[in-house]
Amino acid sequence: MTTADTASPSTFKLGGEIEICRIGLGTNRIQNDAASRAILPAALELGVNLIDTADIYTGGVSERVIGETVASDPRALIATKGGYHGAAPERIAAAIDASRSRLGLETIDLYYLHRPDPDFPIEQSIDPILSAKQDGRVHHIGLSNVTLDQLDRVRSLAPVAAVQNRYNLDNSDQDDVIDYCERHAIMFVPYFPLRGSERAKKIAERLGADRNQVVLAAMLARSPVVVPIPGTRNPQHLQSNLGATRLTLTSDDLEALSLASKS
Ligand SMILES: NC(=O)c1ccc[n+]([C@@H]2O[C@H](COP(=O)([O-])OP(=O)(O)OC[C@H]3O[C@@H](n4cnc5c(N)ncnc54)[C@H](OP(=O)(O)O)[C@@H]3O)[C@@H](O)[C@H]2O)c1
Repeated sequence: MTTADTASPSTFKLGGEIEICRIGLGTNRIQNDAASRAILPAALELGVNLIDTADIYTGGVSERVIGETVASDPRALIATKGGYHGAAPERIAAAIDASRSRLGLETIDLYYLHRPDPDFPIEQSIDPILSAKQDGRVHHIGLSNVTLDQLDRVRSLAPVAAVQNRYNLDNSDQDDVIDYCERHAIMFVPYFPLRGSERAKKIAERLGADRNQVVLAAMLARSPVVVPIPGTRNPQHLQSNLGATRLTLTSDDLEALSLASKS
């Protein structure tokens, strides 16, 4: 069946309150150089306001450069993460304040537990993030690299605004998590979204579009809660990625890419 779909909504309201563009910017290759320093304000000018970082990216340089360029801009929604190399509660507590310092922010808009630690129940790792939310150092709570069970357990303690898991044409087994996020209005952020985009080549040729745009458009069509964060330091690539919000795919295209909704 070939059905002309309508274009996907171009924004999502994080936590039901903060309007964000459904293409964000991944920053795990941001350095202290001219290209990196230029791409961050360029993103805001284009309307890309979700800036995704983590304390481990480029050894803290990503957070620092974001702090020096865009973090204080009222248009920016800064998301960072801690706990990739271990999520003992005291380690997360220290990581939150170190990220606030590098970013130059009193309050981090969205703070993710980067990865559950098998040595600690997720309830313990999340506890310092709940405290930071209570005293205003963190506005929204996110989880990354989680299973549906871990997400459900944390949601019984506090609202979760975002989940960030690997999701791309080579790893698309996130239907249970995406459907759960959609039911609860939680933003689902696919990381490494462009991996495997060669498979979109034929569809891209038919549409006269870039294959990365096609993959991003398919993700946007998968569910209104999906917000990909392709990383780029190239302004043309950023503009092209943003063009995915204006690209309309058919349900046949989505099925061919194995990104069609199964629910
Ligand atoms: N939560 C986690 O555990 C986790 C793990 C990994 C990554 N992440 C996040 O996910 C983000 C996104 O991952 P990613 O794989 O997209 O980022 P990435 O590691 O920055 O790689 C993206 C690659 O695609 C290129 N690219 C981007 N747009 C393009 C376009 N339109 N045309 C051609 N090439 C293009 C980029 O090069 P150019 O710079 O030349 O455009 C870069 O080589 C990361 O930045 C990070 O924030 C999260």
